[in-house]
Amino acid sequence: LTSGPFQNVPDRDFTIGSEREKLSTALAQVRSQFGQTFWPVVGGQARTGVPTAPSTDPAAPGTILALVGHAGVDLAEAAVQAAEAAFKSWYKTSAAGRAALLERVAELMAAQRSTLTAWIVYETGKAWREADADVSEAIDFCRYYGEQMLRLEATAQRRDLPGETNAYYYRGRGVAVVIAPWNFPLAILTGMTAAALVTGNAVIMKPAEQSSIIAAQLMRLFEQAGFPAGVVNYLPGKGSTIGAYLVQHPRVHLIAFTGSLEVGQRILTEASIVRPGQRHLKRVIAELGGKNAIIIDSDADLDQAVLGVVQSAFGYSGQKCSACSRLIVIESIHDAFIERLVEATRSLRIGHPKEPGNYTGPVIGRDAYERINATIEAAARQHRLVYRGDVSELQDGYFIGPTIFADVEPEAALAQEEIFGPVLAVIKARNFDRALEIANGTNFALTGGLFSRSPRHIVEAQQRFECGNLYINRKITAALVDRQPFGGFRLSGIGSKAGGPDYLLQFLEPVTVSENI
Ligand code: NAD
Ligand code: ALA
Repeated sequence: LTSGPFQNVPDRDFTIGSEREKLSTALAQVRSQFGQTFWPVVGGQARTGVPTAPSTDPAAPGTILALVGHAGVDLAEAAVQAAEAAFKSWYKTSAAGRAALLERVAELMAAQRSTLTAWIVYETGKAWREADADVSEAIDFCRYYGEQMLRLEATAQRRDLPGETNAYYYRGRGVAVVIAPWNFPLAILTGMTAAALVTGNAVIMKPAEQSSIIAAQLMRLFEQAGFPAGVVNYLPGKGSTIGAYLVQHPRVHLIAFTGSLEVGQRILTEASIVRPGQRHLKRVIAELGGKNAIIIDSDADLDQAVLGVVQSAFGYSGQKCSACSRLIVIESIHDAFIERLVEATRSLRIGHPKEPGNYTGPVIGRDAYERINATIEAAARQHRLVYRGDVSELQDGYFIGPTIFADVEPEAALAQEEIFGPVLAVIKARNFDRALEIANGTNFALTGGLFSRSPRHIVEAQQRFECGNLYINRKITAALVDRQPFGGFRLSGIGSKAGGPDYLLQFLEPVTVSENI
């Protein structure tokens, strides 16, 4: 166990020339590697011969970055068998040994930071700083969960009496399936996988189709770190086929899912069915969507608030579960605030994320592009459009300009449904009490924010704002491992917070052993 509080790894400072140089070089190197094929890895072997699908650059969709071998159900079955076989000895290994392997992964990530960042820029369209932060978070997850596992082991309970010993300790559950989204392509996949591994489970990683190359990079690091064959398996492919197959599989014990409400609900339903040959109930961790609000109080520091809202709503084009998609502004400052917000939004540079000066890049793909644009078109017929970023000069790529609607009714679809794009609905509130009511008026409860200088309102928000992560006078995205354990409730998901002290318990089976001596 390290002494003192956990230390987050710092992000890179791209204002320093040499740091910029490193990422520019890595972007060029990664570019020179375009066109290779990444195969599924099951039981320690690359499984060639499966059909492949291209992974393309969302900022230049004609560019094929790589081909990715897509597993079918046969390979998914082989992965369950490989993981099951590997689990038999893996769960008996020491927590210290497992944490040491994760530390090795963290070191490899730090050493290969630029390459990983470059792949994130190309495959998921993240701007430099956001892509770099993804790597920081992945490193933090490896180290934090390693430390947490050692802490759990160190505090395992013993109660010995004359003639009787009692031990209470934790054991891995079995085969864990990790189903990840594309929007934090390295961090979230690493976080769920690291947690499952360090607790002694054998893992099948099912990455999102849109970020399978980055997942292949992670698999390479697990191999380089020396994880035994079959303990972690890389299974890219379609969620609707192999994801569904794995969720239903009678010999899968645990499913760690992060993604949409729709898929999460389906997984919860399917996983609750006990199928022939199944001798356990499955544990499901499901971290889902949000419809997050920021409240701007009448006495807010407007400079701070404008910056916080812009970053929260339009960073990575709003494609974060934590993003702000509802802005609730107190009537007395509403018009002045919107004016400043629009001007600040107008100044954002949009373009290919490989250019360091671009604040945001494209949305993730064609489906998202068409869906978000259709939502904007429909909303423009119902609500007051106050700003829509012009992207007409960007001929290629799935670019959508930041978009702001005002005078939105709290119950409107625009203010209730997750869009997962750069679209902000502004709602006017007559006072602070009403603002809190509106903020709490959705089915989600993930993040929330308040900009205020009123101590009374800050306390009231702490008591009444219903969300998993509440941020006061700062942006509502970019939670740091350990400092801001992350996760929501209501339809935003079930499970303990990622990067927090209770997270690992979900992956463990507590065991009591009492011996009469
Ligand atoms: P998604 O639900 O479409 O896909 C997530 C994963 O599920 C992918 O790997 C996909 O292949 C797989 N999948 C799809 N259908 C499946 C099925 N029937 N059975 C099993 N697996 C299946 O989500 P996405 O588009 O990748 O990510 C965006 C969503 O994720 C948003 O709703 C966002 O809010 C949410 N998200 C939540 C958090 C959080 O911590 N709460 C973090 C990031 C993203
Ligand atoms: N953990 C991510 C954030 O806080 C989702 O933005």
